[in-house]
Amino acid sequence: MNAVPTHLAAASTSGADLLLWVAIPYICLAVFVVGHVWRYRQDQFGWTSHTSQLLEHRWLRWGSPLFHLGAFMVIGGHVVGLAVPASWTEAAGISEHAYHTTAVWAGSVAGVAMVTGLGMLCARRLLTRRIRLGTDRSDKLLFPLLSATVLLGITATAAHNVFGPGYDYRTTVSVWFRGLFVLQPQPEAIAGAPLLFQLHALSACLLFAAWPFTRLVHVWSAPIGYLARPYLVYRRRATPAAAPTAGGRPRSSSGSRRAA
Ligand code: HEM
Repeated sequence: MNAVPTHLAAASTSGADLLLWVAIPYICLAVFVVGHVWRYRQDQFGWTSHTSQLLEHRWLRWGSPLFHLGAFMVIGGHVVGLAVPASWTEAAGISEHAYHTTAVWAGSVAGVAMVTGLGMLCARRLLTRRIRLGTDRSDKLLFPLLSATVLLGITATAAHNVFGPGYDYRTTVSVWFRGLFVLQPQPEAIAGAPLLFQLHALSACLLFAAWPFTRLVHVWSAPIGYLARPYLVYRRRATPAAAPTAGGRPRSSSGSRRAA
């Protein structure tokens, strides 16, 4: 399943390759796992998306669904493209040409949705004063790292597979990726890949290491119904204080805060 193609088999592995494609990925994965355990034990109440919907909702209304929808499609594409060997898709009757065409079209739509949504989320964070003030150190790490990973991914796709001659990352990047998880690292598989793919993979590793210390932890606890639930509706209080009634009980204000 993880056999390196014959054109890679003779390639020698340098110390830099071992550092970049074995040591760094494993360190990042270890930080990902241990970091999640630590965060769960230390900060269960902070284990949320830290929504800023109350502070700004116009950009969020479009940016958030676009980003999340794009992300779900991109994740699906990565699972098929990285985890499933080309021989399996071929055995299932999907030709290389059919796979490549679908990946480029679906990947481009997903990537553009994700970039547009993330652009809107970053813009509101930079342009809305109240959100900028609520941006903490973990956000200052997360947003640039997420943007770099997404932009490098879509640029690699555009440069090589949309406008370029085509690059079969399933015989290189994907082989390296699977090798990490079956504990048979194959740094030589990615060492010769185009720079954009290498930078994308490295920034993704760093993103995985940062993950447990950011709002991204909400991914593991988002209820499924969250996706379809209506947005919360907050209303201002109509009167500053509830007036007491004859029976002594305060009359509820018609404009009290409600969730819809
Ligand atoms: C080590 C982990 C990862 C590897 C090896 C990897 C590899 C790849 C490859 C090979 C492509 C090109 C796909 C094509 O040309 O059809 C790609 C595209 C892309 N990647 Fe990644 N990726 C990783 C993680 C991530 C993460 C964590 C994100 C987002 C947070 C991401 C976002 C994207 C985007 C937006 C694209 C362009 C759209 C698409 O083709 O789906 N990737 N990635």
